Amino acid sequence: MKCCVIPGDGIGPEVVSAAVEILHHFFPKLQIENAVAGWGSFQDTGEAVPPLTLDKVRACGAALFGAVSSPTYPVDGYKSAVVTLRKQLDLYANLRPVQSSQGDVDLIIFRENSEGLYAGRESLSADGQSAVAERHISKKASSRIARKAGEVAIALGRKKITIVHKANVMPISDGLFRDTVKTTLLDCASHIEVDELLADIAAFWLLRDPGRFDVIVTTNLFGDILSDAAAHWGGGMGLVPSLNWGDNIALAEPVHGSAPDIAGRGVANPMATILSAALLVRYHWRRPKVAGQIEAAVRQTVLNGPHTPDLGGQATTRQVTKAILDRCADLQREN
Ligand code: NAI
Ligand code: MG
Repeated sequence: MKCCVIPGDGIGPEVVSAAVEILHHFFPKLQIENAVAGWGSFQDTGEAVPPLTLDKVRACGAALFGAVSSPTYPVDGYKSAVVTLRKQLDLYANLRPVQSSQGDVDLIIFRENSEGLYAGRESLSADGQSAVAERHISKKASSRIARKAGEVAIALGRKKITIVHKANVMPISDGLFRDTVKTTLLDCASHIEVDELLADIAAFWLLRDPGRFDVIVTTNLFGDILSDAAAHWGGGMGLVPSLNWGDNIALAEPVHGSAPDIAGRGVANPMATILSAALLVRYHWRRPKVAGQIEAAVRQTVLNGPHTPDLGGQATTRQVTKAILDRCADLQREN
């Protein structure tokens, strides 16, 4: 087994090394291939994602990614590293599960990961007075994300899939998305209930009654925004994992970013990245029992501490990682 490890910027290296420790606990022979990407890499080498990094991920088939920093103003030659990785590696699905510690929220967002507004295809007019962002929606991408969602929903015994779109104002592009997702689900998951919601009211229901959601399928930017909102129910940004997923390659990454406000202090919550590693274990390496043990160890630590400051505690990343490792060892012994 091989895993390419891309720490990235800010708290990325801090949380990734915690997750690597957990992976090594269960898989002592796991081979780690280190690679660079992000703003730091761009400043050092002129490339946010060097070709060598792409080669390494392809060779490993699996990757663990921390987070990268991206400026909010245009920089010549720079494009968000994570968008480039998703595109170059054809990681067309982004799976984002959110579970509350009480168990009353247990939803999975399937975010289309390859197109839409998030692809960042923008241009400024010659006179600098206007700008255009292109939003491509294709049958191919819509059908692929729907199939992935349908397959996982069946495997997990899920009951309902909600398509989230904005076809009332974008009836052509989001209409194509909605109709393609529906048709695909009818084909691959016909016994699962399918409904639909407009993205704005979906945001309302995510705040008001998140328990009504089971599986959500949505376009790239809506998925980005709604998963940060849903992260609240999962215990905050320090807890929500994700898996970028293609046909043969999976790249796990926390939903959060590089958190420059706390970087370098050793107090970032490693749980989101550890849970992302668990997604890699469950879906890519197909070791659900190990994934379940990692998830249970994190859950027990959420309930009984120690906690990093984002969860109201004073523990360091190291102390929380050590506690999770100890619980992993206990759970392994009990089984
Ligand atoms: P952020 O997710 O980095 O931080 C938002 C808030 O959550 C901050 O207060 C931060 O301290 C806190 N937080 C995040 N992760 C945490 C953790 N593990 N433990 C404890 N607290 C945590 O989002 P923000 O501040 O909007 O963006 C910061 C940078 O991250 C930007 O440059 C942005 O482009 C980048 N970013 C990168 C992503 C990626 O690499 N996939 C995703 C989102 C943002
Ligand atoms: Mg985001």
